[in-house]
Amino acid sequence: MAKGTVLVSGGAGYIGTHTTVALVEAGYDVVVIDNFSNSEPSAIKGVENILGKKINFVEIDTCNIVDLRKVFENYKFESVIHFAAYKAVGESMTEPLKYYQNNLVSYMNILQLMKEYGRPNVLFSSSATVYGDADILPVTEETPRKPATSPYGNTKQMAEDILHDCCRAYDGFYGIALRYFNPIGAHTSAQIGELPRGVPNNLLPYITQTAAGIRECLSVFGDDYDTPDGSCLRDYIDVLDLAKAHVAAVDRMTEGRMKEKYEIFNVGTGRPVSVLELITRFEKANDLKLPYKIVGRRDGDVPAVWADTSLANEELGWKAERDLDDTLRACWAWEKHLRNIK
Ligand code: WQD
Repeated sequence: MAKGTVLVSGGAGYIGTHTTVALVEAGYDVVVIDNFSNSEPSAIKGVENILGKKINFVEIDTCNIVDLRKVFENYKFESVIHFAAYKAVGESMTEPLKYYQNNLVSYMNILQLMKEYGRPNVLFSSSATVYGDADILPVTEETPRKPATSPYGNTKQMAEDILHDCCRAYDGFYGIALRYFNPIGAHTSAQIGELPRGVPNNLLPYITQTAAGIRECLSVFGDDYDTPDGSCLRDYIDVLDLAKAHVAAVDRMTEGRMKEKYEIFNVGTGRPVSVLELITRFEKANDLKLPYKIVGRRDGDVPAVWADTSLANEELGWKAERDLDDTLRACWAWEKHLRNIK
């Protein structure tokens, strides 16, 4: 008997694929939906290879409520994990409507149908970006959110508030927002991982593409911050640990263990790592040299942010466990798999 069934929107994406694997391994049935707008069918194949079986997959756009309704008609699930969203901060600055339209409409459709069909549990992928440039570090879930500095960040804040309102208003409606810090890494099988299109914005894919010779040189955005080595501090969370946090949150909802109808958890390691430190660790873990240069600061970057994870540790019974060097080896193994590098 399965523990329950989970609808995973955006389940072909980076975090969606790893979470789907973790859910099935934990005993859940899944229904995955994705429109491959920023992912590939090969990601679903990768998930199925790891699991050694087919999963329920439906190719639809979550913004299309007619198609989404069919999924609700055809499958019984108690929980949804809503990953489906655009995620490029810079692009959201130049194309705000694209972000508001896609990220909010798809989300409203999911919430509307969860309510209509009496499906109780909504898990939303939020982000540490809601904390902005926090006054006190590490940040706890009580740390006040700062006004969003991008439409992308704004959609995360709005989505949290919408979920909170729904949980307050509707009986039998429960929500958890997981605030991810910086997800990195790949499955140890190298069958699934991050698949950035074009020039990567995020640090790890840029590092691995530089190591693979696809990019000439990594630019380090600033070494004059008020941090120990002058480069920015972030909390890099392995995507396998992150996937397990989703399972723990779904368990909590499914087993009726929530203390409030709407809950928020930070999902990070609790350890700050600088950009320069990460580069050195990557070089050592993989026994290679990375060409890099220091350039000016990137607009919009906060100097430092890392998580206080006590709440997730205590309430979800979850803790980040993966060793950073193993994570960095998995990143490189995945890049080599993609590029057919021996
Ligand atoms: C990390 C550090 C950069 C690239 C963003 C979003 C967040 C979340 C994750 C996603 C920073 C430095 C980066 C490079 C560099 N959203 N860097 N050279 O900005 O912390 O978070 O991604 O879906 O909401 O804001 O992550 O990986 O872009 O940067 O020096 O080529 O690496 O300055 O200090 P960030 P990142």
